[in-house]
Amino acid sequence: MKRILLDTDPGVDDALAFLLAFASPEIKVEAVTTVDGNVDVEKGTRNARQLLEFLGRDDVPVARGASHPMLRPMGNAESFHGKMGLMDVVLLEPRMKVDKRAAAQLIIDEVNRLGKELTLVAIGPLTNLAAAILTDPTIPEKVGGLVIMGGAFSLTPYGSGNANAVAEFNIWHDPDAAKLVFDSGIPMVCAGLDTTMHPDYRMNKAMYAEMVVKKGKRSELIKGLCGVLVERYNGFSLHDPMAMAYVADPTMFKTEKYKVEVETTGTHTIGMTVVDRRRYHREENLKANHEVIVEVDAPRFHKMISDRVGKGG
Ligand code: BDR
Ligand code: CA
Repeated sequence: MKRILLDTDPGVDDALAFLLAFASPEIKVEAVTTVDGNVDVEKGTRNARQLLEFLGRDDVPVARGASHPMLRPMGNAESFHGKMGLMDVVLLEPRMKVDKRAAAQLIIDEVNRLGKELTLVAIGPLTNLAAAILTDPTIPEKVGGLVIMGGAFSLTPYGSGNANAVAEFNIWHDPDAAKLVFDSGIPMVCAGLDTTMHPDYRMNKAMYAEMVVKKGKRSELIKGLCGVLVERYNGFSLHDPMAMAYVADPTMFKTEKYKVEVETTGTHTIGMTVVDRRRYHREENLKANHEVIVEVDAPRFHKMISDRVGKGG
């Protein structure tokens, strides 16, 4: 059983990752923290609580996190996820309270409570994790690990960048926080655009149609989240669900070890995640704590998404 803290900026694909996490017998969600990203943190915190209440899990603590990136303002992704972040979904106003602690404090408390038992799963910008590590620099050695959706590593022909030509949104939105986290020594696994935008691993129209064929609340939610986007983009890239699927079953994925550098000063490349594949960087890569997903067992991944996101596990 993987005990996780989910750090998120919900977000259409974040919402699918919620559905997957709570339908996965291998995963126990201990806490949720929210961060500025796809939408502002107020909207994101509302969305997180609405999703938990939809899932009947208002017992999971939710703490509000950073309202802006560490050093510089960056844009949101409302043009993709809709004004409120969950596209066309309408859910009841949440009734559950927001935890009194700041997200970074909840992260520190959960790491101290669960230690190596805890895996951090970050599917938004890394601002809260950076704040937690700055406050308690022993987090990287105390925690079980960190799985993120983030980065574009040029390790496959796909997904070179979505926020700019070479950067993925979560890293781009707070490159300074991302650099701090990548440099902190925390053991990381990254689901980046290389695999989430690979055509073989995306949700195609047929898969979507099958997921919403059965009538019910869950289908309506998925239709409200993804219906328009599936049409607009001829399918849907399963960014955040892929990170969660890795947590549930890492045997479906092939990873490679690289030292990842985050570009924080480039004029055209801010937020780029750089890996060095030159032969003489082998040793440096092998010593690094960063694993990047480079291949996915597509049939097993898609079956997990259909069975668990679509039908509820
Ligand atoms: C990532 O950015 C966000 O828009 C998505 O929720 C996902 O976490 C993809 O680049
Ligand atoms: Ca996200």
